[in-house]
Amino acid sequence: MDRSAKDPVKIQTMFTTIAHRYDLLNRLLSLGIDKSWRKFAVKQLPRAEHARYLDVATGTCDVALEIIRQCPPDAKVTGVDFSEGMLKLGTEKVISAGQQDRIELRFADVTALPFDDHVFNASIIAFGIRNVQDTIKGISEMGRVVRSGGKVVILEFTSSQSRFFQPVFHFYISKVLPFIGEIISGKKGAYKYLPDSMLNFPPPEKFSRMMQEAGLKDVRYHKLTFGAAVVYVGTAP
Ligand SMILES: C[S@@+](CC[C@H](N)C(=O)[O-])C[C@H]1O[C@@H](n2cnc3c(N)ncnc32)[C@H](O)[C@@H]1O
Repeated sequence: MDRSAKDPVKIQTMFTTIAHRYDLLNRLLSLGIDKSWRKFAVKQLPRAEHARYLDVATGTCDVALEIIRQCPPDAKVTGVDFSEGMLKLGTEKVISAGQQDRIELRFADVTALPFDDHVFNASIIAFGIRNVQDTIKGISEMGRVVRSGGKVVILEFTSSQSRFFQPVFHFYISKVLPFIGEIISGKKGAYKYLPDSMLNFPPPEKFSRMMQEAGLKDVRYHKLTFGAAVVYVGTAP
């Protein structure tokens, strides 16, 4: 995929433009399955007393809120994102869930996280890493801020599905998804970019090697829904 398609300013603008329709489109386009993918990803986070989790590219905070649902009441989450529009909606959702004391939101880029080394028990990113131009830098930042032995969890779509499922998946994401996305969001480019970025994302074996290159150990992955999405788990050194 052309590097310029992932220009950070373009990505920021795109997400801010579609933010108001993001949750609705997510549910609709994934037929509601995205919720179970996030649940599975959050289950991979280590549990500990007074745990602190970092949700990178938190967007409208679905992962941050799922962490609060799954983890004990003393757990806290920091969510970061570089789209003001997505963070605004995330803030509204956190307030309406009454979780302002447990979820703190900050404006930040994944490639330059504003945190000291080793402060979190784990970091997680859902459907965010494929938008990051410098992928290795983003992953290594997620590892840097996590304590030694802590986890980095990445949930992402993949271009490689089971042989039976691949034609259906490709047809759906390259024809159906941009069509519906365009009608509901009223924006053409965003839902053209989505299939392009999904189809160009490296297959699980290659992406696992990139996580190792970024300094993570014991990288494992789990394919979900015939390989439509993958959850990767790496350990901070
Ligand atoms: C597809 S949304 C995912 C949001 C959320 N994690 C979820 O599960 O629905 C991708 C998010 O990544 C954010 N993002 C993309 N590149 C980023 C970067 N370099 N730094 C911080 N946030 C980024 C976008 O602003 C957007 O909110």
